Amino acid sequence: MEHIILDVCYLVASVLFVIGLKKLSHPDSARRGNLMAAFGMGAAILATILFHKNDAGEGIGNIGYIIAAIAVGGVIGTLSAKKVKMTDMPQMVSLFNGMGGACAALISLEEFHHYAESFDHPIGTGLSIMAGLIIGSISFSGSMIAFAKLQGIMEKSPRLPMGNIINSLVILATLGGGIYLAFTPETAGSWVVYGLFAVSLLYGVLFVVPIGGADMPVVISLLNSFTGMAAAFGGFLYHNQVMLTGGILVGAAGTLLTIMMCRAMNRSLTSVLFSAFSVAGGASGAAGPQGTAKEMSVQDAAVLMSYSNNLVIVPGYGLAVAQAQHAIHKMAIMLEEKGVKVSYAVHPVAGRMPGHMNVLLAEANVPYEQLRDMEEINPDFSSTDVVLVVGANDVVNPAARHDKSSPIYGMPILDADKAKTVIVMKRGMNPGYAGIENELFFYPNNYMLFGDAKKSIEKLIEAIGAL
Ligand code: TAP
Repeated sequence: MEHIILDVCYLVASVLFVIGLKKLSHPDSARRGNLMAAFGMGAAILATILFHKNDAGEGIGNIGYIIAAIAVGGVIGTLSAKKVKMTDMPQMVSLFNGMGGACAALISLEEFHHYAESFDHPIGTGLSIMAGLIIGSISFSGSMIAFAKLQGIMEKSPRLPMGNIINSLVILATLGGGIYLAFTPETAGSWVVYGLFAVSLLYGVLFVVPIGGADMPVVISLLNSFTGMAAAFGGFLYHNQVMLTGGILVGAAGTLLTIMMCRAMNRSLTSVLFSAFSVAGGASGAAGPQGTAKEMSVQDAAVLMSYSNNLVIVPGYGLAVAQAQHAIHKMAIMLEEKGVKVSYAVHPVAGRMPGHMNVLLAEANVPYEQLRDMEEINPDFSSTDVVLVVGANDVVNPAARHDKSSPIYGMPILDADKAKTVIVMKRGMNPGYAGIENELFFYPNNYMLFGDAKKSIEKLIEAIGAL
């Protein structure tokens, strides 16, 4: 009876994962989707603790330790998730992802000893254990390096001479060791499996250390898919359907996100992994177009926007830094009341994490229908009166379309420069993530409105209100 209840709980949890994931695709339903998937995971854990029995009919035991571990992890997770700033979310994702990889690797380490001591050695089991160990370890150490980079603890992305060759040799040795252990577990001493664990960890480090700049989120997403795969191998090993389903969903979602981000940045995955991004993130003072960027006063910007037919707002990383999402929504409502048609142009890699702008604007209750994707809105810029760029930079840099020497050449951008007038709100002339100057700032139809985005929008609100 208990195993039937357990199977039903696993089935319900798997279905909740799938529905939850589907709901994540829309800001309106994303919160509910997240809760549903979390509830499914909670149910699966509880059912395992209560109803799982081994072949001898014994329960899982160690209940005290398990509850203590869940309590400690739960408290740390809840506090850090509540405390984390929106702009620090990528490193948090990386840290949590690394923990998943570590779990998969530790499970495999433990299971290898059982496998080596058992009488028969089904090769499927051996290969699953090794895949979980290798992929989980790479995901753990790689995610830790990614965390250190995004947190600013590790600032450089050095490439070893012949780094790609060394990395290839290390991964070949790792795979060879895994196959050897899977086929001959009884002859190999336990030091071999710990050696393999260490080499896999080393590969994770070597793999991520040279990657920097705008390529980091792609790597995090790839590592995310690794953790999913490692968990799926765990599910295969234990014949545990919910672990298998969860792992496959995470693995597939991570892989798809990796592909989509590469496309949005116009980078191939091989170039992300094996060649350096030309300019490390945040570099400043890069050479670029020269000239004078014209300024516009708050008063003039307020008049121009209030008397335009249509306005497109381009949000970027600076909007997140300034936490200006509520203010911009308030300003948009005031302009709509004056008859201006307002929409938001959302670039897929604006900000610092996938969906960053969507999350921010949803938080401020911006109607979802006003958010328009790059492909959809680009043809409309030429008939747009005013584009207001709020803390965005790289995603509106026209050099991406024509300057072959630019590190962002080929990245699809929002064609904001084609509008009649562009107003760029930022604090100064600092470059964006790619570390390059933006030629848009020197275009004849472009005006700068310098200052912190939130403070400038508040001044605009005052000026628009007074018109
Ligand atoms: P960026 O090109 O990074 O530019 C952001 C601009 O915001 C900066 O030039 C900065 O200029 C300005 N800014 C900062 N704080 C501000 C504030 N308080 N008020 C007003 N402006 C402020 O941003 P973007 O256009 O959103 O492009 C995103 C970039 O990040 C792309 O290169 C993308 O490839 C990369 N990236 C994306 C992701 C994902 S998945 N979204 C992840 C990592 C990297 P000032 O300092 O002069 O104000």
